[in-house]
Amino acid sequence: MVVSGRGSNLRSLHEKASEHDYLIVGVVSNKPMAPALDYAVSCGLPTQLVDHHAYATRALFEDALAQAIDHMNPDVIALAGFLRVLGADFVRRYPGRLLNIHPSLLPSFPGLDTHRRALEAGVREHGATVHLVTEALDGGPIIAQAGLHITPTEDVATLAARVLALEHDLYPYVLQRWARGEVVRPLTHRPHNASPARTSGIN
Ligand code: GRF
Repeated sequence: MVVSGRGSNLRSLHEKASEHDYLIVGVVSNKPMAPALDYAVSCGLPTQLVDHHAYATRALFEDALAQAIDHMNPDVIALAGFLRVLGADFVRRYPGRLLNIHPSLLPSFPGLDTHRRALEAGVREHGATVHLVTEALDGGPIIAQAGLHITPTEDVATLAARVLALEHDLYPYVLQRWARGEVVRPLTHRPHNASPARTSGIN
């Protein structure tokens, strides 16, 4: 896994690994103080720190990141809260096996601050998406989504908490399906109106 921050998805993925038939082979962080890194260490997971501040260019940082990942020899690379935009050369190293989780129903609300933007836009449905990473920010092919109805009294905090709870089921579910060879791995962008696989109904 590749992380930068809080690590709640890492925790959920780790706690559910054995019952979902996948194994976390290691955790790479670009931030030395990331709580995710502390959690990984406390669990005895192999960890590597690749601090982007230590590299003069993005290309050098991404080379080091790739080396750290390749050293762990994963089948699939799961980003969760990784706060660096990855360049084309990096993404092309891992065609069809670089995943990210994003807190919105993509293609709606790519980028940051998704919950506030969803509330301001007045949408009635919101949720989380696992997608393949491509050069397009939050624009890669969608693998699975989980959604919810926004309630009339919802605020950013309640919505963020509800979406995060969805994420904690969605990512393990996707990796379980991946481990079973059940994930279709599209290698090109799907049109935005293609219907994604939903892993739970809107509720
Ligand atoms: C999650 O909301 C994820 O969708 C987004 O960043 C957040 C990471 O949270 N990409 P955590 O570090 O897993 O708690």
